[in-house]
Amino acid sequence: MNNVAPTREKAIANKIERLRQENRACLLAIETSCDETAAAVVEGGRVIRSSVVASQMETHALYGGVVPEIASRKHIETIAQVVERALKESGKTPQTLAGVAVTCGPGLVGALLVGINYAKAFAYAAGLPLIPVNHMEGHICANYIAYPELAPPFLCLIASGGHSQIIEARIGGSYRLLGQTKDDAAGEAFDKAARVLSIPYPGGPLLDELAEAGDPNAIPFPRAKLDGRYDFSFSGLKTALVRFVQKHGSDYGKADIAASFRKAVVDALVDKTILAARERNAAAIAVAGGVAANRLLRREMQKKAKQNGVACYIPPVALCTDNAAMIGAAGFVRLMCGEVAGLTLNAAPSDRGLFIT
Ligand code: KG4
Ligand code: ZN
Repeated sequence: MNNVAPTREKAIANKIERLRQENRACLLAIETSCDETAAAVVEGGRVIRSSVVASQMETHALYGGVVPEIASRKHIETIAQVVERALKESGKTPQTLAGVAVTCGPGLVGALLVGINYAKAFAYAAGLPLIPVNHMEGHICANYIAYPELAPPFLCLIASGGHSQIIEARIGGSYRLLGQTKDDAAGEAFDKAARVLSIPYPGGPLLDELAEAGDPNAIPFPRAKLDGRYDFSFSGLKTALVRFVQKHGSDYGKADIAASFRKAVVDALVDKTILAARERNAAAIAVAGGVAANRLLRREMQKKAKQNGVACYIPPVALCTDNAAMIGAAGFVRLMCGEVAGLTLNAAPSDRGLFIT
């Protein structure tokens, strides 16, 4: 008999088949798409064994926003320690892991490449499958960690610094895009509004905090009317804010301005998501992305979902903003779908490959 040693590809294919049957695979996950260097070990796509997030916020605050070159350099400096800590805290060794999941996009290309190359080297050295993960799928799957009972189909509002989308998560690991922003993302709108109000970086969370003390009905900011039933637009609202501040000055009832602006953004996000849930008879709504940390969005979505008899899932704040545990959860979904990458894997900075039409 011709006894040829199995190739790396064949060994990995066999391993994936075993894991698909076993359902408790432990993945190392790496996330470096923006300004957080993060690594985690996640078991069965649902249980966090460890999660380490090294934020670069203080560095970028000096410049009033994320500087891509600096972000890449910081990731390079930090990634080895972050991965080592995540492994140590999980109690796992490379040999007892089932694979390495890594964010491939969307995100900053230089930043993504740091994580991808580290993941490739790690996977190669340990003989593990490399699993490419879309960052937005990561945000959606953060809900699986927070809510072990959650399973598709469900609707999901994704609101982050670069995205505002309503999607349908379907059985079998696919996603349908139902609506999205026509201009700014919700997080971008909050960050820009914060700049107009001279609120320091990171604008979104600080504007949210200030808004808690203001009157949301003080200023009647406009709500966009759009042809797409589930689409958003925040650019008109931003212009209205700029005009208001030019006329009245940014110190005029700053908390009231922040509260009124926040209410306008949150109304759009909640109303469109609830409309989609009602019209599509969805039993559950999930919320994902950095903006899901917004206090008013959390309160309003819970309230309106309850009024409409729809279950509502919003992860704890630490799982809403960028982290690697969510990449481990999404990596598990991809692994169960049999999706692994070769060592030629590249970054996809503006990846739109998540959705079926
Ligand atoms: O998901 P994320 O951490 O990174 C991206 O993938 O973009 O989202 C970051 C965005 C930023 O625009 C940030 O200002 C916004 O989420 N954000 C918030 C809050 N926390 C984070 N926006 C409003 N209220 C918050 N509490
Ligand atoms: Zn994100």
